[in-house]
Amino acid sequence: MEKLKVKGKKSLSGSISISGSKNASLPLLAAAILSDKKIVLKNIPLVKDIFTMVELLNYIGLKIDLNKKKKTITILHYNKKISTVAPYKLVKTMRAGILVLGALLGKYKKAKVSLPGGCAIGGRPVDLHLFALKKLGATIKIKNGYILANTEKGLRGNLIKFPSISVGATENAIIASVLAEGKTILKNCAMEPEIQDLILFLKKLGCSISSDKKRNIFVNGIKSFLPVTHKVIFDRIELGTYLIAAALAGKKVSFLNISPKIISSELKVLKKMGVKMEIKSNKITVFKSQKLKRINIKTEPYPGFPTDLQAQIMILMTQANGKSKIKESIFENRFMHVPELKRMGAKIKIKDNTAKIYGPSKLSGAEVMATDLRASVCLVLAGLIAQKETTINRIYHLDRGYEKLEIKLKKCKAIIRRI
Ligand code: EPZ
Repeated sequence: MEKLKVKGKKSLSGSISISGSKNASLPLLAAAILSDKKIVLKNIPLVKDIFTMVELLNYIGLKIDLNKKKKTITILHYNKKISTVAPYKLVKTMRAGILVLGALLGKYKKAKVSLPGGCAIGGRPVDLHLFALKKLGATIKIKNGYILANTEKGLRGNLIKFPSISVGATENAIIASVLAEGKTILKNCAMEPEIQDLILFLKKLGCSISSDKKRNIFVNGIKSFLPVTHKVIFDRIELGTYLIAAALAGKKVSFLNISPKIISSELKVLKKMGVKMEIKSNKITVFKSQKLKRINIKTEPYPGFPTDLQAQIMILMTQANGKSKIKESIFENRFMHVPELKRMGAKIKIKDNTAKIYGPSKLSGAEVMATDLRASVCLVLAGLIAQKETTINRIYHLDRGYEKLEIKLKKCKAIIRRI
């Protein structure tokens, strides 16, 4: 099994080009099932979850070609031999497989999609996905670990108010309503930039779809599609992760292929903590920061501080003066990295969904175990500032969502190797 070895205490300098967003690419790929025209997606990140989604669309019967050199995916539709099944073997490793449910149901009036199950960060139910699809006219049964959905007469637009905010359920409902008869109004939606990218993509496909600032999304069902080329937005979580790496260990690190306005809540937190940055319209440079200040944050749906950066910001808090607090309000079990960080010398106390971090504390290299994607990368960040060497095991989690992590860090003079 592969591991990463990081030697700490080396200053980072250079520039990092941010990849396309994994969490934007996945719903775009699922939505591609709807169309019968050629689709070209550019700026695709070369990460494991994308490869799994490509495999899933291949299994379903789309003609899908991933050009790794150009980072593009081209999708053509044979319109024959379609399987409306998403099997367990593909969905179990990537929860976003559930996103094909709305598309298959909308287009083929039936779908059999494996229930994704729980994962390290929490139970992660899919009730909100099913709630929305039922409102659009689907009949749904759960049998042998599979969601069996069908709609004899096809989906019909409706008014759907989500009882709580879910990124995936919003995406599934948007995708399903594209081929539904009539108008769908979705209320209390997630409004993440990845959802805005999905809306933009669907508009290019010919859909009549819009959103407002009050978490409402309006979709008018359509019957035909246009060929489309779409560039996936940058990965704001990858950017946030490297901004934190630079705040921890950087002398001068610049970030390219980005748009700072999308990550304003993250930038606000970093500024409050005393991170020195120069922010331009399409570039951020982080300089060596002196004394970092404590802060209290709460993870929230966008535009709040993202849960996907919670583990990483915790490392910065271990270096800030005083007691910082993080309230994790999205997932019930997303402090799995804390025991490993404590083994490296971090002083952290957890009570319910709140972590108290006492800084500054000296971290020392250790052999640690990654439990999920963001927990893995936080251990890499900890390794960058720890005394001596940190070995991170189970890095297959990292490869699900970070493209060429060690290459990007090495380019900035980090001492990191995969063995
Ligand atoms: C998306 O997951 C992201 N994944 C996650 O990124 C991210 O952490 C999460 O949104 C929150 O921002 C992708 O985009 C592929 P949710 P998703 O539905 O859609 C509960 C990463 O590290 N819920 O917004 O699965 C759920 O349990 C990953 O890249 C229900 O109760 O998240 C959670 O507590 C991990 N019922 C909350 O809602 C449902 O039917 C938010 O989850 C669905 C969700």
